[in-house]
Amino acid sequence: MKKVRTYYDLPAGTRSDIAGQLAAQVERLRRRLESVRHTFAVLSGKGGVGKSLVTANLAAALADRGFAVGVVDADLNGPSMAKLLGAGREPLEVVEDAVRPALGAAGVKVMSMDLLLEGEEAPVNWTGPLQESFIWRGTLEANALREFLSDTEWGELDYLILDLPPGTDRVIPVHGLLADLGGVVLVTLPSELSRFIVSKSLTMSRELGIPVIGYVENMSGYVCPNCERVGPLFESDGSSFELEKGVPQLAEIPFDPIFGRETESGRPGVLACPESRSARALQALADRVLTHFEGKSP
Ligand SMILES: Nc1ncnc2c1ncn2[C@@H]1O[C@H](COP(=O)(O)OP(=O)(O)O)[C@@H](O)[C@H]1O
Ligand SMILES: [Mg+2]
Repeated sequence: MKKVRTYYDLPAGTRSDIAGQLAAQVERLRRRLESVRHTFAVLSGKGGVGKSLVTANLAAALADRGFAVGVVDADLNGPSMAKLLGAGREPLEVVEDAVRPALGAAGVKVMSMDLLLEGEEAPVNWTGPLQESFIWRGTLEANALREFLSDTEWGELDYLILDLPPGTDRVIPVHGLLADLGGVVLVTLPSELSRFIVSKSLTMSRELGIPVIGYVENMSGYVCPNCERVGPLFESDGSSFELEKGVPQLAEIPFDPIFGRETESGRPGVLACPESRSARALQALADRVLTHFEGKSP
């Protein structure tokens, strides 16, 4: 098997001391992302709110409009991006000093741990002493993320989107690696518990100085697969849910079992069932994101 070259394999002439290696890593990441116009992260803090479904569909919607889009799946322990975007049926190709990302729906470039794991059931195995496992995990995650960003041949991209794992502190390593992260899109359910947790991610992003593009209210109502009417799912349905005053709501996406099933089969619902309410809500999200970055209504 061809070895993927990592930053540990320094080119001849590179300083081998730690400070030198670190400088080389930072420089490598900077050069790799020079050809990327905008990076932003999809974040929540809470698990199971639909971050990955939103990321996959937003990426597909932007790519379908002709933008060059890449996705980094920063959820190493529960990677799902390759599956949701129908990518990774071919082994990853290694070119010079990088690995070529897998191609998913609408040509979205994907880099995810599930493209590197053998077999569907394989979990990521964190080695190291148990009592230090948190430190190990944090370090390993940051290293893996850096490699995903800098050892992947992204090429020219309009948007590089990061799908973050649950955990209100998960934006910290991303900010450490990408000082000019263009923003975060928060995903919440219209419930008090979700608001409680997602608000912490909001505070964390603000403290780090990352622009908050706005929030997505996911699972706002349930679309009946038979009559397509939208019924309530959470108690707050029907009333206006607000994550926090002044933070713009970017979209309200109803829970639609057909939309979910299509996306989970590797055909993002925005492409597979474009007329559905959820697809239209995600297109509205794409509009808002484009307005944020391109500075004009699409
Ligand atoms: N709006 C939606 N309609 C249908 N299914 C959804 C919707 N949002 C999320 N899901 C489903 O809910 C589950 C959790 O979503 P996921 O994107 O994995 O959440 P997270 O990444 O925040 O942990 C998945 O099975 C996903 O397909
Ligand atoms: Mg996820």
